Amino acid sequence: MNLWLGLLVAASLFSAETLHEVCSVCHSELVEQFTTHTHFRKGMSCDACHGPSVAHRTATGGVAPDRISAPDEVPALCGSCHPAQRKEFTGSKHGLLVLGRSRTKAANCTTCHGVHNSRTAVQTEAQCQKCHESLPAPCKGAPARKAAGVSCVNCHSRHTLTARIPFFPGAVLPPARR
Ligand code: HEC
Ligand code: HEC
Ligand code: HEC
Ligand code: HEC
Ligand code: HEC
Ligand code: HEC
Repeated sequence: MNLWLGLLVAASLFSAETLHEVCSVCHSELVEQFTTHTHFRKGMSCDACHGPSVAHRTATGGVAPDRISAPDEVPALCGSCHPAQRKEFTGSKHGLLVLGRSRTKAANCTTCHGVHNSRTAVQTEAQCQKCHESLPAPCKGAPARKAAGVSCVNCHSRHTLTARIPFFPGAVLPPARR
């Protein structure tokens, strides 16, 4: 085969659009989830977070992917494309615990948003409940959930967790900072 044609074919085989199909041979369920994510629809593929992982996908076993992110590395990974959210998260109580590798488990980006699947607001809020079982009384004062949102963020800013001006009258606000 002509060298250039060969390179062209190789490039198109492993371009962002088709890489997930290569991974799908061994990670089919996960790839199926990922194809429903906004990230996939915006043209991203597995290499955005794991690198091309050529050795991993061609090995019979035992070779790690190019990039794996521990919980405290996730904010930098996601933050490379979402710098504003990373900045807000970094100063939050969640961020301080995660980045400080505390033994107290707190939420990183993927705890709330999911990794390869997009979470709905209901699913995200279920994550909050897992760690925050007994909430102070004011937290139960929220009006009926807006169909699209996580009810907690009516009063707690979504990434800093600090007080925000609620959209409904009469709400008790959390303190700005303790
Ligand atoms: C030939 C099969 C195969 C292909 C193709 C493959 N993987 Fe894997 N992958 C595996 C196996 C098996 C494991 C579990 C290995 C282990 O537990 O050490 C794994 C584990 C992983 C992990 C988790 C590693 C860890 O230590 O947490 C990631 C991330 C990953 N694969 C990404 C990818 C990506 C991205 C692609 C496509 C570019 C891909 N894989 C293609 C077989 C494959
Ligand atoms: C937006 C970033 C991102 C993208 C895109 C992404 N992953 Fe991951 N993936 C992660 C993170 C974060 C983890 C958890 C930590 C780790 O293992 O790196 C993970 C974990 C994994 C794991 C091991 C855990 C598990 O759930 O089995 C596999 C396998 C994997 N990814 C494969 C893939 C494949 C295949 C694709 C493309 C279809 C892909 N990932 C796309 C961020 C991503
Ligand atoms: C390579 C760049 C890149 C990386 C890395 C990345 N994202 Fe994204 N993300 C995007 C783009 C592009 C969009 C679509 C933005 C838009 O449409 O405005 C997006 C959208 C989102 C959205 C909104 C989803 C929706 O359905 O509207 C969330 C939440 C999100 N990303 C979380 C994450 C998390 C969590 C990670 C890390 C595991 C991550 N992102 C890593 C580029 C990236
Ligand atoms: C405690 C849970 C939680 C954590 C941790 C978290 N987020 Fe979010 N994030 C939310 C909620 C809630 C929303 C608002 C969307 C909603 O109501 O469903 C949101 C919205 C977003 C959006 C959509 C645009 C926007 O700003 O509203 C992006 C992108 C995003 N987060 C990225 C990130 C990244 C990157 C990290 C880590 C640095 C992160 N998030 C950590 C809960 C979280
Ligand atoms: C993996 C566990 C975990 C998850 C999931 C989680 N949190 Fe937290 N959260 C923590 C921990 C730990 C703290 C710190 C508690 C402390 O300092 O006493 C915390 C603190 C907070 C605080 C107090 C912030 C402050 O500045 O005082 C708020 C508000 C909060 N979380 C809201 C949420 C919301 C909303 C969600 C879901 C969108 C959520 N959390 C998901 C573990 C979690
Ligand atoms: C109507 C406003 C409101 C809503 C909605 C709300 N909170 Fe709160 N939240 C507060 C106020 C006010 C405080 C401070 C209470 C105090 O200091 O006694 C607080 C404090 C907290 C704290 C710190 C608790 C502590 O003991 O230090 C956490 C964690 C928390 N909220 C999580 C959540 C979660 C998770 C949700 C969604 C399920 C939520 N909140 C919904 C108003 C609200």
